[in-house]
Amino acid sequence: MSTLQDQRILITGANGGIGKATSELLLRDGVGHLLMAGRRAERVEAARAELMSSTGAEGARISAHAGFDMLDPDAIRAAVDGLPDKQIDTVFLQAGGWVVAPDYPKHDWRGQQYERTSFQNALGGHAVIAALEARGLLRPGARIVVMGGEGARGVPGMIAPAAFADAAALKRYLQGDTAGYPAYQPVNALGTSKFINALWAQKLAGLGTYEVVWFTPGFTGGTAGTQGLPGWKEFVFQRIAFPVFVMLGQAQWPDTAARKTADAVSGRIGRNGDLLGAPQGKAIGPITDQKPMQPQFSDASFQDAVWEIAVEVGGPVAAHSLHALDGSIMYRCSDSAGAVRGEQQTDCVADLAEIIAHAPVRATP
Ligand SMILES: NC(=O)c1ccc[n+]([C@@H]2O[C@H](COP(=O)([O-])OP(=O)(O)OC[C@H]3O[C@@H](n4cnc5c(N)ncnc54)[C@H](OP(=O)(O)O)[C@@H]3O)[C@@H](O)[C@H]2O)c1
Repeated sequence: MSTLQDQRILITGANGGIGKATSELLLRDGVGHLLMAGRRAERVEAARAELMSSTGAEGARISAHAGFDMLDPDAIRAAVDGLPDKQIDTVFLQAGGWVVAPDYPKHDWRGQQYERTSFQNALGGHAVIAALEARGLLRPGARIVVMGGEGARGVPGMIAPAAFADAAALKRYLQGDTAGYPAYQPVNALGTSKFINALWAQKLAGLGTYEVVWFTPGFTGGTAGTQGLPGWKEFVFQRIAFPVFVMLGQAQWPDTAARKTADAVSGRIGRNGDLLGAPQGKAIGPITDQKPMQPQFSDASFQDAVWEIAVEVGGPVAAHSLHALDGSIMYRCSDSAGAVRGEQQTDCVADLAEIIAHAPVRATP
């Protein structure tokens, strides 16, 4: 992999708490170019100006890009169309958070309903990758880091683990059919959305086109992540609970979280297929493999269910690829759902033009 100084890194939600703190550290660490992606122009421009001033980074090393609304794949495509015509080495999909609402919030997209928290935390990220790939902006073998959360496997007394009977039930939930589920709790829906983006990350990692790492830095105060709570509750959380949690080592401030995420983004932590976060039962702690904590992370039928809906919403990703392995050429063509159709040139003749056009060519030692 190239050094950080040669890299172009795009971060979604870059104007927010952990996203902005991570952006700042990557600039201080010497990233070649940082593309700060956000949904609102004024916020992402303001964050860029603030980081230029705090880090002394020159304008040429940091750009702001609006329109990255994780609930609107059309806006995402338009935003990607506006990016400069230079390949990106790493994408950090970190925009999102919970949705405070009295009942399961739904999101309408092209006449179909979806569960809103999962849409913004999982399906929106897929739309970003699909749009970048369609424009040929992802470097072959690019690194994709997905912002997770310990809620993906549950945290006792804090976040209930996702519990789907089977892949069909998961699909129904994603499509907004939440009948029969316990009363809506934003923090549980957040955890479930991170379970879903972990399944998405595992599926994409398995396709082998990109290097995909799912990473969560642990419980973090001082961000806007508690937004949406009634004012007094947010006050209690931010001014009383978080400082106490931080003192007790049960939470951290964004700069500490960002050190970990910046290391994950720049490749110091995490290899393809890793799911990394706090130890079992905890919301913060030494970086630990999450897979043994939730066997369904590795369940192919769960991964396929998420992938199918992600493709329905955001379009195909990694459907065609061409790998150069040990000097020999290996083709892989798959349908838009990611099912591999063949791995020989003869299997892929019909796809060859597209494989070459998309050309995520990857030289693997
Ligand atoms: N805080 C924690 O304890 C913790 C722990 C582990 C993981 N995480 C994850 O880390 C990420 C950042 O969280 P944070 O605590 O830093 O929260 P934050 O301060 O609220 O930042 C969230 C960022 O995501 C953006 N965003 C939210 N919803 C979006 C949407 N639908 N489309 C586009 N952008 C959207 C926000 O943009 P706007 O400024 O436009 O609202 C903001 O830039 C989230 O994915 C969160 O789940 C947080």
